[in-house]
Amino acid sequence: MEHPDKPLYDLHQKETVEFSGLGNTMKPIHSLVKENIKQIKPCIHGAEVYGAAEETGFKPEEILDFSSSVNPLGPSKKALEAAKSALNTVAAYPDSNSNMLRQVIASHFSGLSKNNLIISNGSTELMYLFAEAFLKKGEKALIPAPTFGEYESAVRKTGESPKFFRMGKSLQIDAEAFKREMVGVKLVFLCNPNNPTSKLIPQDILLDILENALAQDILVFLDEDFLEFVEEEKSLSMIKSINKFPNLFVLRSFTKIFGLTGLRIGYGIANEEIIDVLLCSKIPWNVNSLAQPAAIAAFNDEDHLKLTCKLINEEKKWLQQELSQFETFSFCAPDANFFFIDIQKTGLTANALKHRMLKQGILIRDCSSFNGLNEFYIRIAVKTHEENERLINALKYSLKSV
Ligand SMILES: Cc1ncc(COP(=O)(O)O)c(C=O)c1O
Repeated sequence: MEHPDKPLYDLHQKETVEFSGLGNTMKPIHSLVKENIKQIKPCIHGAEVYGAAEETGFKPEEILDFSSSVNPLGPSKKALEAAKSALNTVAAYPDSNSNMLRQVIASHFSGLSKNNLIISNGSTELMYLFAEAFLKKGEKALIPAPTFGEYESAVRKTGESPKFFRMGKSLQIDAEAFKREMVGVKLVFLCNPNNPTSKLIPQDILLDILENALAQDILVFLDEDFLEFVEEEKSLSMIKSINKFPNLFVLRSFTKIFGLTGLRIGYGIANEEIIDVLLCSKIPWNVNSLAQPAAIAAFNDEDHLKLTCKLINEEKKWLQQELSQFETFSFCAPDANFFFIDIQKTGLTANALKHRMLKQGILIRDCSSFNGLNEFYIRIAVKTHEENERLINALKYSLKSV
């Protein structure tokens, strides 16, 4: 097998490459690639269960994944049934604009119509689509650090560079400093509650930023993918404010609380003009025929959502108590369904702790790949009680011999 690090083309020696020994030659593919695409580095994520299985010898299904913060109960049974029933429709194209799902979601929020909604192949698709549609040459996007890494990749893919706002020790956005950095930018990405810090942006700060952005024609891409795990979700969401803020785009996902992670489906809410731009520029049939009915059923299954929120709230309290017993852990009470922990005092790096945990079949998120963080932060999802007990026991064991 070829060494994986070996470059495909030796750019310095050959100006043409021969393929398959057939005498067909052409310029090296590398030389044909757009510069911004050459610069792209894939973003690192949690949930690398398959890599972890290869490394440890566990089967992927034997690994307990605390690195991915999704519904520990999995999706609604009704959603799975809907996906199964839709199997007999896969011979036809799906509805390209997911109209039925848009209608269902719109009727859930007062003052919204389906024209305020776009459905996507995972919410990540909308980060890329939004940056591609709105960032013109030379324009800047402001991104807090640390936060979800795909905002940066989406900006870089357009050929433009992000401007970072370091949150500093407080891991909160200082409104005045942030507003100073906003001057002259075209687009701001915000994540509420934030991944990986699990903290909400205080409402007064969020509104202050939105008003300031509106006054300067700055677009705000507000990722609320984890907000459904927060008790006061309805009052904290900015969905109700899209008419007041024509510069606002709110992101939601079926990956997190709905647990339809592998079906890849998310959505965005904004004024009709923004939605029209995105609907025109997205690829056709972006959301498949199983995901659309599954999402409708999941959205309507309020009992499953209530059960999930009850479990998360109880287990968050239990985990908070248990994790507080580790004297070498520093963390704040989480707002979302995951804990963000500074482990520097343990004497281990996040990578070292991750590998000790993996030997026990448990995957945690080493956060050192997040821009703005050092190698001493981990992220842990809230799961079921039995799973959380296993986590705590494995952490105790991993830290015993430090
Ligand atoms: C804050 C945030 N937004 C979006 C996503 C991506 O979600 P989706 O699966 O809907 O693409 C993630 C995934 O981890 C995330 O952490």
